[in-house]
Amino acid sequence: MIRVLIADEIARIVGDLEKLKPYADVIDVCGVAHQASAVIEEAWLRQPDVLVLHERFTELPQADFAAHLGSVSPATRVLLMTGGDSPARAGPAWTVGAVAETVEGPELLHAIRVAAGVLPPRNAGSGGETADGTAEGNIDTDRREVRTPRGRAAVVVTFSGKGGTGTSMVAINLAAALADGGGGRAALLDTDLQFGDAAGMLHVDNHLLSIADLAAHGEDIENSLLDAVLATGPAELRVLRAPSSPELAETITAAGLRAIVRATARAHAVVVIDTPSHLDERVLEAFELADRILLVTSYNLSAVRGTKATLLLLEALGVDMDRVDVVLNHTRPRTNYRREDIEEILGRTILIDLPYDPRVDPSLDSGTPIVLAQPRAELARRLVALSQLVRGDGATRDETAIELPAPAPPVYRRRFSLGRR
Ligand SMILES: Nc1ncnc2c1ncn2[C@@H]1O[C@H](COP(=O)(O)OP(=O)(O)O)[C@@H](O)[C@H]1O
Ligand SMILES: [Mg+2]
Repeated sequence: MIRVLIADEIARIVGDLEKLKPYADVIDVCGVAHQASAVIEEAWLRQPDVLVLHERFTELPQADFAAHLGSVSPATRVLLMTGGDSPARAGPAWTVGAVAETVEGPELLHAIRVAAGVLPPRNAGSGGETADGTAEGNIDTDRREVRTPRGRAAVVVTFSGKGGTGTSMVAINLAAALADGGGGRAALLDTDLQFGDAAGMLHVDNHLLSIADLAAHGEDIENSLLDAVLATGPAELRVLRAPSSPELAETITAAGLRAIVRATARAHAVVVIDTPSHLDERVLEAFELADRILLVTSYNLSAVRGTKATLLLLEALGVDMDRVDVVLNHTRPRTNYRREDIEEILGRTILIDLPYDPRVDPSLDSGTPIVLAQPRAELARRLVALSQLVRGDGATRDETAIELPAPAPPVYRRRFSLGRR
C-alpha cells in the first residue's frame, strides 16, 4: 500500500481521486492539500510515502520547501505534476519524478509507484521521470507501521446561519462516507437541539436515547455510557440524536456539549457535528472544538449574506480562518447566480460546489444518504471528495513514535460571547 498526499486545486484533486479510485487496494490517498500553504502541515500530519505536488504549488521558495518537507516528513518523496497538455517536464532535484496533469489513471498509478520506489522508471534517464536509483526499494515498512493514524478524531462542524441550505444533508453524507468501511469509526452528533432530525434522516429515530440523556450524566462520560446512547445507522455510522422534544434543548450547556464532543472524539476516528441555523454558546463551543468548519451556503442571496456575516464574525472571534471553508450547495435545479458572483460577495473561494440532485429528498426519506444510495451520482462523488478532504484533520497520529514540530495554536481565543449564557 502506497500512502499518497495530493496537493493541488480542489477541482483537479477531485479528478485525481477518481483516477486513483480503481487502485484503492494499492494506493491509499491519505490526505489532500488544496492550498499551497497547507502542504507542509498535511505532510507532517499524514507522513505520506508520495506527495503528488502540482507545479502551481511550487512557486514558494523551493529550497525552503524541500528542506521543510524533509524535516517534517523525511520519508516522503515528491512526484511533480506538471500543467498544460504537454508531456511531463522534469522537476527540480528534490522531486523524484514528474507526471503531466492530463495522464489517465494507469499512468498516474505507474508514476506514483516509480516515485515510491516500488517500480523502476520506465525509461530510466529519459523523459520526465528523474527518479534516482538510490532510494529505490527503500520503503521502510516498519516505520510506516507506527504511523497508522490513531488518537483523537478529526472534528468537522457543518453550519449555516440560514435553514434549508443543506447543512444537515452535507453533515449526514459526510459522516456516512467517512463511516463506510464500518467498524463504527465515524460519529454524527446532531446539535440542532430543538429541531434536529438527523436521526429521522438516517432512520434511527426509534432509538430512544439522545444527547439530553448524555448531558444528564454530567461531564464525566464513560465509553460504555456513550456506546449505549449512540444509535447505529447505515454503514455502522454512530449517531447521537437530538432530544425528542424541543424543551430539552435547554438542559444541554456549552460545557456539557464540550464534554460530549471530547468523549465522542476519543472513541472515534471522525466526528461530524451538525448544528442548528442560529448561533448560540453551544454552536460557538462546537466551532472551538472543530478541526474544520464547513459553512454551507446555497445559490440564494439571503443564504450567501448569512454566510458572509458568519465569516466576518468568525474572523472577529479570532478563529483560524484556514480551518473554515465554504461549501456551495445547489438546493434548487436552476439558479440565477454564478459561483464567481458568490465568491466575489464572500471575498473567498468556494471549497467545493455540490450539484442539485432530485434524489436527495428520497434518500433522506429512506434513511440512506445519497453517498450510499447513489454512489455514482455526481453529488455523491463530490461529497466523498469532500469527506476525503476533511477526514484526517484531527491529531490522528501516534505522538510518541515520531518527533513532532510544535503543536498548532488553539483554534481560537474567544474574544466575546454571543447569545444566552
Ligand atoms: N444538493 C441538493 N439537491 C437537491 N436537494 C437538496 C440538495 N441539498 C439540499 N436539498 C434540499 O434541501 C432540503 C433542506 O436540507 P437540509 O440539509 O435539511 O438543510 P439545513 O440543515 O441547512 O436546514 C433537503 O430536504 C432537500 O430537499
Ligand atoms: Mg439542518
